[in-house]
Amino acid sequence: MAIEAIEAADYRRIIGQFATGVAVVTTANDGLLHGMTANAITSVSLDPPLLLVCIDKAAHSHDQFTQSGRFTVNILAEDQQEVSKIFAATSEPEQGRLQGVAFHLGANGVPLIEGCLAYIECAVADQFEGGDHTIFTGSVEDATVARGAAPLLFYQGKYRRLAD
Ligand SMILES: Cc1cc2nc3c(=O)[nH]c(=O)nc-3n(C[C@H](O)[C@H](O)[C@H](O)COP(=O)(O)O)c2cc1C
Repeated sequence: MAIEAIEAADYRRIIGQFATGVAVVTTANDGLLHGMTANAITSVSLDPPLLLVCIDKAAHSHDQFTQSGRFTVNILAEDQQEVSKIFAATSEPEQGRLQGVAFHLGANGVPLIEGCLAYIECAVADQFEGGDHTIFTGSVEDATVARGAAPLLFYQGKYRRLAD
């Protein structure tokens, strides 16, 4: 018996039952700084430390990741919903979405957004086909917990907070 194809909108709703944290993945490519909100992020390996992030092939960030070969995962705190919204609106890297957002550059030249819970600085290790996304694995080069605060969460298509 053939299995019926699941529509994209249904799949989004169903996978939205899986609660996640929220991060902004930032890059620096040839002087252009860019960032994109992402929750398709998973730790892959402890030794060596590796993580993965899935990026839509249509996103500007996709080419920035491919060209720069480095990125940083900025894990958002619960009071950074506005930051998540800024980086979830598509923009050309030239338009400088980082304008108006407080940040400094890490040792690898990639932006670290102020106020985040943690930063994980990576070099792109590999790229794998993932349908309309590319799966980028990142080799973790530096990582820090910067702030003791509650995380921003995403569940059923909405921002959420941990219960007390
Ligand atoms: C909570 C949340 C999580 C998201 N996670 C991802 C993700 O993991 N991968 C992805 O490609 N897009 C994700 N997006 C969508 C991108 O943030 C969005 O397409 C963005 O506009 C891309 O920007 P760019 O085209 O300037 O790179 C997410 C959006 C939100 C609000």
